Amino acid sequence: MTKVAPSILSADFSRLAEEVKRVEAGGADLLHIDVMDGHFVPNITFGPPVISSLKGKTDLPFDVHLMIENPERYVDDFIEAGSDIITVHVESTVHLHRLINYIKNQGIKPGVALNPSTPLTGLQYILDDVYMVLIMSVNPGFGGQTFIPGMIEKIKKLKDIVQQTNSKVLIQVDGGINEDNSPEIIKAGADILVAGSAIYKSSNPGNVIKKLKR
Ligand code: DX5
Ligand code: ZN
Repeated sequence: MTKVAPSILSADFSRLAEEVKRVEAGGADLLHIDVMDGHFVPNITFGPPVISSLKGKTDLPFDVHLMIENPERYVDDFIEAGSDIITVHVESTVHLHRLINYIKNQGIKPGVALNPSTPLTGLQYILDDVYMVLIMSVNPGFGGQTFIPGMIEKIKKLKDIVQQTNSKVLIQVDGGINEDNSPEIIKAGADILVAGSAIYKSSNPGNVIKKLKR
């Protein structure tokens, strides 16, 4: 069954705990937390203190998507803050293998994210070490963008690799996902759908989550 990870990027930050409870009650599987540093992406969101302030307010696992340069500098802070999954961009660090294995050895599930223009070939030597691969279906930085159609083929190719190698790695897709395009994305091979604006801009987030899983 496909899992849905609402992104709090589109939530009302002034009522963050309530906004998290709203999607938890609506059937969310994970809480997607978008961290942006204004360098790796042209936007700034929040850091470890905001994440740790949500601990104890929800039972949802924290799926932390780091869109920051040199994530190895801050990874301990995000572990400390209560992350369950930490996803780093392959484009953001030179020593990706070291970082992924460091995260794993701390008992946290490591993920790797690929920008739309980044080929799958970079995954070859790390696939066995990661819990999930995040395919960005928009250029990272902002919520509410349009899904890039060419990413369907990329998801399919990754799914083929996963099946051919008997890998247990999960495929997460992030950006521009809504009720209309989710069937095609799931069919292509997505295991986890991230959705921000589609869920938070709705008056009935639970309904959207249910439809996304269909
Ligand atoms: C984009 C973020 C996404 C974003 C998704 O940089 O990584 O998680 O919040 O938002 P929507 O669903 O609105 O595209
Ligand atoms: Zn994200």
